[in-house]
Amino acid sequence: MRVLLFTGKGGVGKTTLAAATAARVAAAGRRVLVVSTDPAHSLADAFGVRLGADPSEVDTALHAAHVDARGLVDRYWPTLRTHLRGLAAGAGLDALDAEELTVLPGVDELLALTEVARFAESGTWDALVVDCGPTAETLRLLALPEAVAGYLDRVRGTRLIPDLRATAAAVSTLADHLSGLRALLTDAGTTGVRLVLTPERLVVAETRRTLSALALRGVHVDALIANRLVPRARRWQGPAAAWLRTRRSEQDAVLSELDSSTALPVHRVEHRAHEPVGAVALRAVAQELYGDTDPLAARAPGAPLLSVTADGADYLLAIALPLGAGSDLDLARVGDDLVVTVDGVRRLIALPLVLRRYTVTDAEADDAGLHLRLAPGRED
Ligand SMILES: Nc1ncnc2c1ncn2[C@@H]1O[C@H](COP(=O)(O)OP(=O)(O)OP(=O)(O)O)[C@@H](O)[C@H]1O
Ligand SMILES: [Mg+2]
Repeated sequence: MRVLLFTGKGGVGKTTLAAATAARVAAAGRRVLVVSTDPAHSLADAFGVRLGADPSEVDTALHAAHVDARGLVDRYWPTLRTHLRGLAAGAGLDALDAEELTVLPGVDELLALTEVARFAESGTWDALVVDCGPTAETLRLLALPEAVAGYLDRVRGTRLIPDLRATAAAVSTLADHLSGLRALLTDAGTTGVRLVLTPERLVVAETRRTLSALALRGVHVDALIANRLVPRARRWQGPAAAWLRTRRSEQDAVLSELDSSTALPVHRVEHRAHEPVGAVALRAVAQELYGDTDPLAARAPGAPLLSVTADGADYLLAIALPLGAGSDLDLARVGDDLVVTVDGVRRLIALPLVLRRYTVTDAEADDAGLHLRLAPGRED
């Protein structure tokens, strides 16, 4: 069972490439469900059919659905909000980290992902292809299970809600549910992100930022897909052909810069004269995208996020993050956690047990990520 998440900036081709991937997987005889968590719901347009919240058959072995995030919110959120309000009041919310709560407005996206997890658990599909919203939304959404689960764990740990037994039970269920979702999203053997981009200026810096944020979230990225390359016009003559050649060589320059900045494969798809709509056109796009390779193939996991090596009395802690040259980096120690913030994306990293009585004495950043030196003794 594989879960492929397609994300990227608005309008780059996420829906088209997710649909193309699913069409290709189904053509190879595997049962696949392609589902959109994006409220814009253009998946139906890509297939040229009507879709609902329940999976419907689009082609042999190929099913598609639009998660009705609003509907899920309407169904679940009022009860949840009441619970959380009660908890917040009972637990003296001011003491809690306000930042963790600001993510709660993304609850509709969270519920949409919850629905994806439900499909994944159903055992009906060999693969789930998810057409996610734009990158920023998706990042926020991927942070949610962790942020909310952390918050709920803390609330659950307080003794301030003895009279709210039903609420405590509901919160426990929710917390377990979220940790299951987080486990699914961060399981590199199952879930992989395909980041879609268009070859424009600044895309390299932007992509590194996104990759770094995804690495902080513990989410495995399989590949980058550069979409809408201007077709090659080698044998054509005239000003239009010259324009095409110039555009393409600019795009090629951007892509070769991207290639050399990452170990990830960068797949290429040209801009077609017709919008790829329907299974036949989508399979043609998939052929260009994957050639003869298996679209479900997972890239071997890269360096683990954390690795620790001993160095005399010290320890060296490496945090594997693709940092950009202009990355804004902040490091803080809060109790037994290390708080790493890269370009506004924050991650609490629980220090390995052995390092809890150690103090960070040096920190350096390079292409491979962060390198920290920790010496014995706790700062207090
Ligand atoms: N390689 C391509 N060649 C021609 N048209 C394309 C190609 N890729 C995408 N398109 C067209 O570009 C438009 C935007 O693509 P798509 O809807 O897949 O992008 P998206 O990233 O899902 O957008 P949104 O952020 O709005 O969800 C669509 O009309 C689609 O048919
Ligand atoms: Mg879309």
